[in-house]
Amino acid sequence: MKGIVLAGGAGARLYPITHAVSKQLLPVGGKPMIYYPLSILMLADVRDVLVITTPHDLPRFRTLLGDGSRLGMNISYAEQPRPAGIAEALLIGAGHVGTDTVALILGDNIFHGPRFSDVLARESQDVKGCVLFGYPVHDPQRYGVGEADGDGRLVSIEEKPARPRSNRAITGLYFYDDRAVDIAKDITPSARGELEITDVNRFYVEQGEARLVDLGRGFAWLDTGTPESLLQASQYVGTLEERQGCRIACIEEIALRMGFIDAEACHRLGEEAGGSSYGQYVMSIAKEMKV
Ligand code: G1P
Repeated sequence: MKGIVLAGGAGARLYPITHAVSKQLLPVGGKPMIYYPLSILMLADVRDVLVITTPHDLPRFRTLLGDGSRLGMNISYAEQPRPAGIAEALLIGAGHVGTDTVALILGDNIFHGPRFSDVLARESQDVKGCVLFGYPVHDPQRYGVGEADGDGRLVSIEEKPARPRSNRAITGLYFYDDRAVDIAKDITPSARGELEITDVNRFYVEQGEARLVDLGRGFAWLDTGTPESLLQASQYVGTLEERQGCRIACIEEIALRMGFIDAEACHRLGEEAGGSSYGQYVMSIAKEMKV
C-alpha cells in the first residue's frame, strides 16, 4: 500500500500564523502537525509516502522529513499549486500509487484512540473498494457525512449537507483499492471548483463497496483549523503525554516499533535531536527496546 499526505492549502482561518509558515508544520503537542498523519500511515505499515504541498512550502517539508531513509521509509514530494480539492491528490499522486492500493490522509487530521493501531493494521490489509472512517460530531453539516447500514456498509454519502442524514462525519483518512486514481480522473469539479473526495467515495458507495469504520465514542479526532482548536489539540496531546509519560505521534518510536529501523538507528535519531526532551524520549525508547 502506498501513502499520500495532502498538506496543501492556505490555512486562511489561522492567519496570521500561516502567513509565513504552512499550517501542517505548526506545532501540536511539541511536534510538527504532519507527524500525526504520518504516524497513522506508518501504523498502517505504509513506508512509501508522497507528501503533497504548495510550491512555497515544499522545501520546508523536505528539510523536516528528508527522503525518509532515516525512518526506514521512502518519502517523496509533489506540488499542488492551488487548493483544487482533496481528490486532486490522487491525480498528482497517480505515478506514485501506480497499481497499488493507497492510503490518503489529510495533513491536518489528528487521530488518537485506544488500539487504533490494530484497527489500522487490520483495515489496510487487502483493501477492496474503499474504507472510510466515521466519527460522531455535533455539527455534521461542516463535513462529508456518511450513512451506513447495520453491517457497516455505506449507503449514502454527502458533502456538507444542509440536512445531514446522520451525525457521522467522514474523516480525512481514506483507504482505496487500485481503482481510486481512475475514478478521480473521471469526476468533475464541484460548485466550489474543487475535485471533491466525496465524489470519489460516492462512486464506491454506489457500487456497494464502501465500508465505514466507526471510530465511536472515546476516540479523538481533533480539529486544527482555528487558533482555538489548534490550542485545544495541543492541550489534549500535552495532557496525555504528561500524565502517561509517553509520546503521541513520535515518528522515531513508531519506526522502531514497526520494525522500519533498529534500536541503534533510533538512538542515533534521539541524539541528533539535541538536548530536547523529545530527543531524550527517543533515546529512552531505543534503550528500552534494545534489552
Ligand atoms: C474535507 C472533506 C470532507 C471531510 C473533511 C475532513 O472538508 O471535503 O468530506 O469530512 O475534509 O477533515 P474540508 O476540510 O475541505 O472542508
